[in-house]
Amino acid sequence: MFKVFVIGCLVFPVLALATELVPLKNDGIHDVNSDGFSKLQEPREALSDFPRRTDGTIDWVKALDQKLITPRANKVGDGKMTSVNLDLILTNTGSMPHVLFSHKVHTQVLTCANCHIDIFLPKQGANFINMSNIMAGEQCGVCHGAVAFPVQDCAQCHNVPAKKGNLR
Ligand code: HEC
Ligand code: HEC
Ligand code: HEC
Repeated sequence: MFKVFVIGCLVFPVLALATELVPLKNDGIHDVNSDGFSKLQEPREALSDFPRRTDGTIDWVKALDQKLITPRANKVGDGKMTSVNLDLILTNTGSMPHVLFSHKVHTQVLTCANCHIDIFLPKQGANFINMSNIMAGEQCGVCHGAVAFPVQDCAQCHNVPAKKGNLR
């Protein structure tokens, strides 16, 4: 198991930084032939002044506080962001500390539909979350390691001390 994590440590920061540096013409999302294409700003330039974590990835919560971003609830921008204050403690963590999942932090920058129901069913314990899925870019890994802080920051997620003897 440790081998996988060590490899993860080396690969993930590179991936996390690389995603935002991919030129728009190569990202597989934007249409180079569209008239509007030339008006778009490259992510590298747009994100250059954004606050960073020590690992170099963007700190979106700080970016929000500093009003550098105004998240939209939908593509057109006419919906309203609804933030919910619902903390869940995820306890299937083996010998690692438990994970505090804060809906508040996530729903300030994301809408419910970003996660429910494609990534997670909205029911505690209904999703079998584990590290191999996360490292494969699924579940929490859809964002963490791609656009949010990377998976090797174990303690950022595993931050709730488990009761003594929690060795599964
Ligand atoms: C749809 C994208 C997405 C998914 C899925 C996602 N996150 Fe996040 N998460 C974010 C973003 C964006 C932030 C903002 C922090 C940042 O800048 O990296 C964040 C922040 C966090 C934080 C930091 C909270 C703080 O107080 O700063 C934790 C912990 C976290 N996520 C855990 C999780 C866990 C655990 C899962 C899976 C159960 C998960 N996230 C799934 C996007 C996501
Ligand atoms: C983005 C958040 C996040 C990060 C970063 C993270 N984990 Fe996890 N981890 C989780 C979640 C969520 C679960 C499942 C908890 C649940 O379903 O109750 C989990 C489960 C686990 C488990 C038990 C299940 C399994 O897959 O064996 C272990 C062990 C574990 N993590 C180790 C680690 C280690 C080691 C690191 C750092 C290399 C790490 N985690 C980084 C969110 C994270
Ligand atoms: C970043 C991803 C993410 C976003 C965005 C998100 N959720 Fe969740 N939600 C989760 C996760 C992860 C769980 C727990 C799943 C588990 O334990 O298997 C959860 C669980 C829930 C639950 C079940 C709680 C319980 O006690 O069973 C509800 C209700 C819920 N979410 C509502 C919402 C609503 C409403 C929004 C939007 C305002 C929202 N969620 C946005 C990830 C997210």
